[in-house]
Amino acid sequence: MIPLLLIVLIVVNVGGVVLLYSLRRKTGGLYWELRGLKSPPLTLSNHRTQEEARAYLLHLLQWPPGALPPLGGWAASADILILLAEWILDRKPALVVELGSGVSSLVIGRCLQLNGRGQFLSCDHDVAFLAITARRMRLAGLPYVGTRVSLAADSWYSLPGNGESLDVLLPGAASETTRGIDLLFIDGPPMAHGEEVRAGASRLFRHLTPGALVLLDDAARPGERRVAQQWAAEFPELKQTFLATEKGALLLTKE
Ligand SMILES: C[S@@+](CC[C@H](N)C(=O)[O-])C[C@H]1O[C@@H](n2cnc3c(N)ncnc32)[C@H](O)[C@@H]1O
Repeated sequence: MIPLLLIVLIVVNVGGVVLLYSLRRKTGGLYWELRGLKSPPLTLSNHRTQEEARAYLLHLLQWPPGALPPLGGWAASADILILLAEWILDRKPALVVELGSGVSSLVIGRCLQLNGRGQFLSCDHDVAFLAITARRMRLAGLPYVGTRVSLAADSWYSLPGNGESLDVLLPGAASETTRGIDLLFIDGPPMAHGEEVRAGASRLFRHLTPGALVLLDDAARPGERRVAQQWAAEFPELKQTFLATEKGALLLTKE
């Protein structure tokens, strides 16, 4: 009887430890993965939950709790938005381009407002979605230039003027004075348009300034991983770093 009780107790205890460990890994995924990184290229704090990351993000934006729509899901998660915000506030870029508008537009627009400088161009394949983002930006008191990108039949997307000219991308903006793109955030189009649809963003790489950052969201997905491999072969001058954010973030840096 006693040995049986002992066995039951051991099984329950071991089960409990395994359960606790897996929960800890789930909530603290970012922490565990980042520990393996020798020198993270950006300060990414040890946020154990997306709620905690969201609170810190709002602090960076100097906005009160509740000032941002829900994050995650279709929208970018708080952890990658922190990367964006910290980079913009620190580097004070002259031009930020985003592919895939939404909550990230609010974060980018607000950081540029806090910097007191910097142009922002937001691209989306969906006009209705651009309109929603434009309304949110207006309500937040932020300027907004949104441009539609079109989806080609082969499911890659084309940028206005095929991305050869920033003048085409920045209609009416003072593009002659713009040296190039300092930050390119790629969070669209969605996977429904092809697993490798975001590969087309490389059309903009020729416009990157020295020291520029390209940030690809959803980089943990198989399609984005294949895109990263293509880019590594095609653009060896862009150093790749993968961060284990909630959805995976690929950083390309141009020295
Ligand atoms: C991953 S989302 C972009 C999210 C954006 N960067 C953000 O932080 O909110 C990619 C694209 O999906 C589309 N999209 C966003 N939310 C959607 C929704 N709830 N339903 C359908 N499409 C959506 C938009 O066209 C958007 O550009």
